[in-house]
Amino acid sequence: MAALSYLFSLSLLCFSLAAQALNNPDPKCSATNDHGSNLQVFHVYSPCSPFRPSQPLSWEEDVLQSLAKDQARLQFLDSLAGVKKSIVPVASGRQIIQSPTYIVRANIGTPPQTMLMAVDTSSDTAWVPCNGCVGCSSNVFNSLKSTTFKSLNCGAAQCKQVPNPSCLGSTCSFNVTYGGSTIASNLSQETFSLATDIVPSYTFGCIQKTTGSSVPPQGLLGLGRGPLSLLSQTQNLYKSTFSYCLPSYKSLNFSGSLRLGTVGQPIRIKYTPLLKNPRRSSLYYVNLNAIRVGRRIVDIPPAALAFNPTTGAGTVFDSGTVFTRLVTPAYEAVRNEFRRRVGPKIPVTSLGGFDTCYSVPIVVPTITFMFSGMNVTLPVDNIVIRSTAGSTTCLAMAAAPDNVNSVLNVIANMQQQNHRVLIDVPNSRLGVARERCT
Ligand SMILES: *[C@@H]1O[C@H](CO)[C@@H](O)[C@H](O)[C@H]1NC(C)=O
Ligand SMILES: *[C@@H]1O[C@H](CO)[C@@H](O)[C@H](O)[C@H]1NC(C)=O
Ligand SMILES: *[C@@H]1O[C@H](CO)[C@@H](O)[C@H](O)[C@H]1NC(C)=O
Ligand SMILES: *[C@@H]1O[C@H](CO)[C@@H](O)[C@H](O)[C@H]1NC(C)=O
Repeated sequence: MAALSYLFSLSLLCFSLAAQALNNPDPKCSATNDHGSNLQVFHVYSPCSPFRPSQPLSWEEDVLQSLAKDQARLQFLDSLAGVKKSIVPVASGRQIIQSPTYIVRANIGTPPQTMLMAVDTSSDTAWVPCNGCVGCSSNVFNSLKSTTFKSLNCGAAQCKQVPNPSCLGSTCSFNVTYGGSTIASNLSQETFSLATDIVPSYTFGCIQKTTGSSVPPQGLLGLGRGPLSLLSQTQNLYKSTFSYCLPSYKSLNFSGSLRLGTVGQPIRIKYTPLLKNPRRSSLYYVNLNAIRVGRRIVDIPPAALAFNPTTGAGTVFDSGTVFTRLVTPAYEAVRNEFRRRVGPKIPVTSLGGFDTCYSVPIVVPTITFMFSGMNVTLPVDNIVIRSTAGSTTCLAMAAAPDNVNSVLNVIANMQQQNHRVLIDVPNSRLGVARERCT
């Protein structure tokens, strides 16, 4: 309960922080670091982020908060994967911040207004809080100050690509849910500048009303691949190709990068095929065939990993979930072998949703995700989280929460940090290579 009321006050704090200046004078935060088709990626707690808490969170608070956010995130992903028709927001009314963890700088309009948008590889649409929005933070995009802004009317072809469109006067408007939030937007077009690239007439949702706090304060840049996604709207410019490197939480001073397009992408990188789920076009599904802990391939029922477009089951890479979640039989197999290798006699404790924590120093076994054509062996920093004092170490993965009853395995951002993940839609493949994101 104490944690929840703490989170509540923190989220209020964040909304007031969002109103503060974006332009941090520190040169490592400067917009000049965005060049070509490369954008700096910041963790929301980075010194460059206006969304960081004014008092650093304790390690336990941070972990508990991240797990709480993930809960809502998983329900969102499951709703995309078609698992459950109705979603009950876990944290409804409690104002837990559920925004994705990483942000990039986008310049919107003419003259440009800078917004720090959350990147989300599992969403298609971009949303920006706009003037007149009810329920948004105070830092909104002011369409009245831009000469290139345009609202799309109900007859526009794009209006048929959004869910549940309706007409407000002649404006195409639509409602969606995101995590625990509802979002009502006008379908609009505007010039977006990403690093030094200019995307004219980019179609996005100009938020007019939102409830809950799942919507990132300055908007969301969807990097999914469905209709109306950035990839679909910039076919000629970026060829449906991008890569990202997410900096570790442990080095918040570092920024990562989002590299859009085919130029400068790594050549030496391992690939696994991207799978297409026609019903859930935005998610990046891959085939996870097995998981190795140390040298042993753990015993997971094949159905727990199998891709099934009808039920939405399978494995996705997601930038917005913090800790990898495996369906229960897969998680239990991994956890049991992890505990066995650490040492069956060493006492195990729990912390929040983590059930495998140790308060004595341990030797961490490696974990390898065995995808079709690609084995990814995680370094220790991607497997466990440790308290700053070093007194507690937890296996940084969990089973899908009970109330979600998930069939989806999610390779989350903690496990992707300090790796470059390359999405190559034209060749239907996803690449992973180790890289220090600095
Ligand atoms: C959204 O559309 C409504 C109805 O046309 C309009 O009143 C409102 O000003 C629009 N908002 C923006 C930011 O364009
Ligand atoms: C969308 O949301 C707005 C504001 O909450 C509401 O007035 C409107 O009726 C909703 N439209 C649809 C089609 O559900
Ligand atoms: C991060 O940068 C700030 C100033 O920009 C500095 O005070 C702090 O010591 C740095 N932290 C680390 C861990 O390097
Ligand atoms: C992955 O590792 C297994 C051994 O655990 C090996 O048999 C397999 O060939 C490897 N796959 C690739 C693509 O390297």
